[in-house]
Amino acid sequence: MWNAPRPILAVSSVRVSAARRRLLAGAVCLGFALPSMAQDTAFRIGLILPMTGPFASTGKQLEAGVRLYLAQNGDMAGGRKITLIVKDDTGAPDVTKRIAQELVVNDKVQVLAGFGLTPLAFASAPVATQSKTPMVVMAAATSSITEASPWIVRSSFTVPQVVTALADWAAKNNIRKVVSLVTDYAPGIDSEKYFSQRFTTNGGQVLETLRVPLRSPDFAPFLQKVRDAHPDALFTFVPAGVGTALMKQFAERGLDKAGIRVIAEGSVTDDDILNGMGDGVLGTVTAHHYSAAHDSAVNRRFVQAFMKANPGMRPNFMAVGGYDGMRVIHEAIKSTRGAGGEALLAAMKGQIFESPRGPMFIDAQTRDVVHNVYIRRVERVKGELWNTEIETIADVKDPGKAR
Ligand code: PHB
Repeated sequence: MWNAPRPILAVSSVRVSAARRRLLAGAVCLGFALPSMAQDTAFRIGLILPMTGPFASTGKQLEAGVRLYLAQNGDMAGGRKITLIVKDDTGAPDVTKRIAQELVVNDKVQVLAGFGLTPLAFASAPVATQSKTPMVVMAAATSSITEASPWIVRSSFTVPQVVTALADWAAKNNIRKVVSLVTDYAPGIDSEKYFSQRFTTNGGQVLETLRVPLRSPDFAPFLQKVRDAHPDALFTFVPAGVGTALMKQFAERGLDKAGIRVIAEGSVTDDDILNGMGDGVLGTVTAHHYSAAHDSAVNRRFVQAFMKANPGMRPNFMAVGGYDGMRVIHEAIKSTRGAGGEALLAAMKGQIFESPRGPMFIDAQTRDVVHNVYIRRVERVKGELWNTEIETIADVKDPGKAR
């Protein structure tokens, strides 16, 4: 028998509380109708994160960032009570998409948020488009994500923003030959492409391009190839949480002693795990939009409050993506008095504010973030490892949008 395909966004029955049922029954007896919206002041946000599995640290940091913003600024905005519905997608795109559908249809969320990895954001984009729900990408960093739906706004960063700045720095700092080693999925491929293009334009040479799998990577055979190629430096990208294995194996295999430097997209020396990487990581130069060591009053207050609320954890760029993303949503709810959909999306576009990362702007045209990119060097300060900022490139737009 032929089964009709289920529409992606089937209309479900609205859940009615026992109290409201009693009220409704009374109202029907008395012969008048209840105003439909007046009772529901909740503004629901569906926060979809990898809370378990290999990218659980991303989910933990993001959720902590979102909750800190709400703790500091209140969960009331525009007369509506902000209610977070947090769901674990385990880092699997099919799960993310199913959860996004359920949140929109059953829970009636007015914003979808989170998205710890690029494939998770791409999987959910059609749900945002079809249901006309604003979707705030707080972590994923492949350039083209914002083009996957006109309902997407990004509060994280883009990989091309940071690796082009690194390619400029490398060329000015006597690095002539590199081997590129990236994780084999969209942001890794963006890293390889944008770094290589800029570095070769600057007169550098990319001797080899290597790609390691996203799941359970074994770096050993790749690092052997790096060693055999005798580059001045290894250029690398791996997603947040994975850098420890790479940096430890790099040192264990003696590549540092062989005179090979490491230059990297900043996720590699992610603040969440940097302290556990050991002295082999000292001197590594990276480019990124956020360091917990960023020297500003706003950031000092942020780091202090974050560490107080989450003992033993140092905030990384994922926490800041969550904190700033929650700011963008909170302000939009406030200025539209809780109207969802198009009005909310319009109020997110063009926001400009000081983030713990520095100045930040949501470009209304691209719905993408414009912010400073920092060149950083890993240093030991007061016994701990930090990404110390050594150069600032101001107000960087995503090069992927400049086509
Ligand atoms: C991504 O999947 O877009 C991504 C995830 C983690 C990172 C950077 C990019 O650190």
